[in-house]
Amino acid sequence: MSDIDALLSEAAALTEKTLDRLLPKPMDTEAVLYEAMRYAVLDGGKRLRPALVLASAKLFGVSENCAVRVAAAVELVHTQRLTHDDLPALDDDELRRGNPSVHKKFGEATAILAGDALLALAFEILAGPETHADPLVRANLVSALSKAAGGRGMIGGQMIDIIAETETLDLGAVTRLQRMKTGELFAFACESGAILGRIDSARRHALHAYAHDLGLVFQIGSHLLDAEGRPGGEGKAAKIPTAGKETFVTILGKERAHGQAAMLADQAIRHLDIFDERADDLRTIARFVLERQS
Ligand code: IPE
Ligand code: IPE
Ligand code: MG
Ligand code: MG
Repeated sequence: MSDIDALLSEAAALTEKTLDRLLPKPMDTEAVLYEAMRYAVLDGGKRLRPALVLASAKLFGVSENCAVRVAAAVELVHTQRLTHDDLPALDDDELRRGNPSVHKKFGEATAILAGDALLALAFEILAGPETHADPLVRANLVSALSKAAGGRGMIGGQMIDIIAETETLDLGAVTRLQRMKTGELFAFACESGAILGRIDSARRHALHAYAHDLGLVFQIGSHLLDAEGRPGGEGKAAKIPTAGKETFVTILGKERAHGQAAMLADQAIRHLDIFDERADDLRTIARFVLERQS
């Protein structure tokens, strides 16, 4: 097994075990809500954000028991977004991670509610005393994740993504959109180890810079995969990119987009130069994100 396969499967196993424990199936009338939440989050996905949390925690010797709760919280926020993103009002996607999307399986109303509850659960987990003994650290985690997920981060990016269907964005605006939509959650994942370890701002800043470059590599990769037809990749139905919607590929062309992604991946890895070999997992993840095919 390659380094990256081992790293991702270990992150997936740890995160899924934690999520399974944190999402028990109740016998109450509302049990279907939990079924939909479990369906959304428990099966599949690359678990890239949990892997980033665990790699950043390893860098600072943070206990795995604490880190895995943060990994679970990030994956819950990510999955909430995927659940709502697939709804007919947004991308209207019928397939996610190789299975029918949550609204196809449970209906739109339940998918909306399941997404809402996944988001709330993420913050409940971060605020729980098992995440960290120091309440200030827990408050910092809650604050950082809510900023990354909200209007100035992921959701703001989703809003611009909708506007981009009818307005032409230039390269700067597309970069900002992608940084918000994807980069901010990556940044939270990468910085969470530093928050848990109460690490100084210089090292936290290096992780932030790494994450932002990595987020762009990831998004350029997504646009290249979309442009190249994604043969069954990501477990999603092949979709023709929205006509007129600017992406890194429509603006730069495939060749320059590839070049830009490679340059950003190198730059991301260089931001880690201040760390020793304990940052090797983050270096491995950066190379994987550049080369990924799904
Ligand atoms: C897909 O993210 C959504 C975007 C941010 C473009 P991933 O490619 O990480 O999705 P999963 O978690 O592996 O399904
Ligand atoms: C998914 O974004 C939502 C987020 C994670 C912000 P996209 O619509 O670009 O990605 P896919 O193609 O559905 O995974
Ligand atoms: Mg979308
Ligand atoms: Mg989508």
